Amino acid sequence: MNSVPAQHARVLSGMRPTGRLHLGHYHGVLKNWVELQHEYQCFFFVADWHALTTHYEEPEIIPDSVNEMVIDWLAAGINPGEARLFIQSQIPEHAELHLLLSMITPLGWLERVPSYKDQQERLKERDLNTYGFLGYPLLQAADILVYKAGMVPVGEDQVAHVELTREVARRFNHLYGRESGFAELAEEASKKMGKKAARLYHDYRTAYQQQGDQEALDAARALLEGQQNLTVNDRERLFGYLEGGGRIILPEPQPMLTKASKMPGLDGQKMSKSYANTIALRERPEVVEKALRTMPTDTQRVRRSDPGDPERCPVWAFHKIYSDSGVHEWVNQGCRSAGIGCIECKQPIIDAVLQELKPLQERAREFEEQPDLVRAILAEGTEAARDMAQQTLNEVRAAMSLHYR
Ligand code: TRP
Ligand code: SF4
Repeated sequence: MNSVPAQHARVLSGMRPTGRLHLGHYHGVLKNWVELQHEYQCFFFVADWHALTTHYEEPEIIPDSVNEMVIDWLAAGINPGEARLFIQSQIPEHAELHLLLSMITPLGWLERVPSYKDQQERLKERDLNTYGFLGYPLLQAADILVYKAGMVPVGEDQVAHVELTREVARRFNHLYGRESGFAELAEEASKKMGKKAARLYHDYRTAYQQQGDQEALDAARALLEGQQNLTVNDRERLFGYLEGGGRIILPEPQPMLTKASKMPGLDGQKMSKSYANTIALRERPEVVEKALRTMPTDTQRVRRSDPGDPERCPVWAFHKIYSDSGVHEWVNQGCRSAGIGCIECKQPIIDAVLQELKPLQERAREFEEQPDLVRAILAEGTEAARDMAQQTLNEVRAAMSLHYR
């Protein structure tokens, strides 16, 4: 399990630019990112190349979407002082790593990724019989591995892509992490930690390799992470030696499954642009209010005097997110006894959504008014990301015998 211990991991995630974001993105993804940024070193990027895999016939819609999306992220509370924000295509190392990984990725691995056939089926109006589309998950693997990210917050539908990333990393390390005299080099490296740490490392290694002691493995990894005077190569050797493999050049990331947000859409289905049931984060308050006021309710409650059942009503799904148990009680009672009307029932939700969106919209306005600031935030994020990506590519090229001078 050549992975990096969670507490030291870098977090990376990306989003395809699909225009303005809505409450589904906020509850499903962005709120989570905002929390993660306080705890981890976070990299969040706009996957514009991924957008091209499906929208190559209309690339002109991408740039606006990119900009709008970054503003929505900032509005949602992503703090550029904590997280690095950037655009994928600004870091060509993603593409170089994608190319290099493509050399060792069996076609079957890509053809078997469930989203490949699914999306081809679902997006029938587009011709997705392209090399680029087949490579979609491998490009994603490159996105992740180029930063040696340990954790990748994603939704259920992306877990298979992180799995593929792990397999590709494992194969890469297997093929290129085996240098001659590996054990000797690792032994040499361990001495550089000092006597005490070296002894601990060896004890942990023995405990893990002979008894499968997982705690010893974790302790050894933490020990390695804490060593200041190891070179990158030595550290990789020691990580690999610990687990009995070769050098770990590309660590395997873990998917970090975002707690499934059940953000309902206005019609009770999942909120999604393709169902036209969304509330955009920057929607005008009057429009938000009207959308909620006119959303469908229990279809069996035709007249005000008909009792209803919240379980059959999309409004109830909103109450589950926005209301406390007191209000839940009030809805349940009132609906089932026809004691309250539907407009009345919706009012607390209208209030809660508007209140939730208010600070977000204020922040959005600030960024809309300062395009230079947004550009500067991206430039800074890009620079930090590029440093890291270049470092990884140097190692990867060297491991693949591409180190010309
Ligand atoms: N494929 C992801 C999605 O559609 C976006 C993405 C691209 C991504 N590269 C990534 C997510 C790397 C996490 C890590 O949502
Ligand atoms: Fe839905 Fe509330 Fe009307 Fe009941 S009272 S049908 S829960 S909107």
